[in-house]
Amino acid sequence: MTTISASILAANHAYLARDVEELEKSGADWIHIDIMDGHYVNNLTFGPKTVEDLRKVTSLPIDVHLEMYRQEQVIDHFIRAGADMITIQFESCPHPIRAIEHVKKQGCQVSMAFAPTTGLDQIYALIRDVDHVNLMTVEPGFGGQPLRREVLPKMKKIREYIDSEKLSAIITVDGGVNEQTIPDTLLHGATNLVIGTMLFNDGMINENIKKAKSFF
Ligand code: DX5
Ligand code: ZN
Repeated sequence: MTTISASILAANHAYLARDVEELEKSGADWIHIDIMDGHYVNNLTFGPKTVEDLRKVTSLPIDVHLEMYRQEQVIDHFIRAGADMITIQFESCPHPIRAIEHVKKQGCQVSMAFAPTTGLDQIYALIRDVDHVNLMTVEPGFGGQPLRREVLPKMKKIREYIDSEKLSAIITVDGGVNEQTIPDTLLHGATNLVIGTMLFNDGMINENIKKAKSFF
């Protein structure tokens, strides 16, 4: 089954509750919340209070994507706030194995996000330990960037590896996923699509989700 993880980065942040309710009504499967610290990436977004408050307005599972330094210090805050999955950013985490174990110990799902320039060996080393492998198709930090097509062959190799080894990890694609790029992401093996900008185009959440699903 292919699923949509709606990234609220592109929403109007003054109307987050309204938009999250609309996303749920329109058939999104996950809410994806990017946490950016102004250091690892040059952008500042949300905190645990945002997750705690949005937790109360939706029954959808929440994926908290930590695009920041010192992730270990905030994991517990976000789990307590109601995250269903923590996505650790590989390149800004000094001890990824320890971080994965820490999340799992608390009964929370765990995903590892890999920036476009990170190679297959690093991904293979962690793939058995995670619920999702988040293959970023943009450099972390901002919504609205074009999908980097050179990630697609890497995605295909991971799809083949998961299938041949009979692993359970889900391939999530994150960044630049829209009408033009969805078919290729599906073709290369992604089954969970993080979509931001496209879903908020013209404020037509319902129509945009329908359009995205028409490719599945
Ligand atoms: C990028 C974020 C993405 C972003 C995707 O650093 O991790 O989740 O919100 O947004 P779009 O769909 O606009 O690329
Ligand atoms: Zn993200």
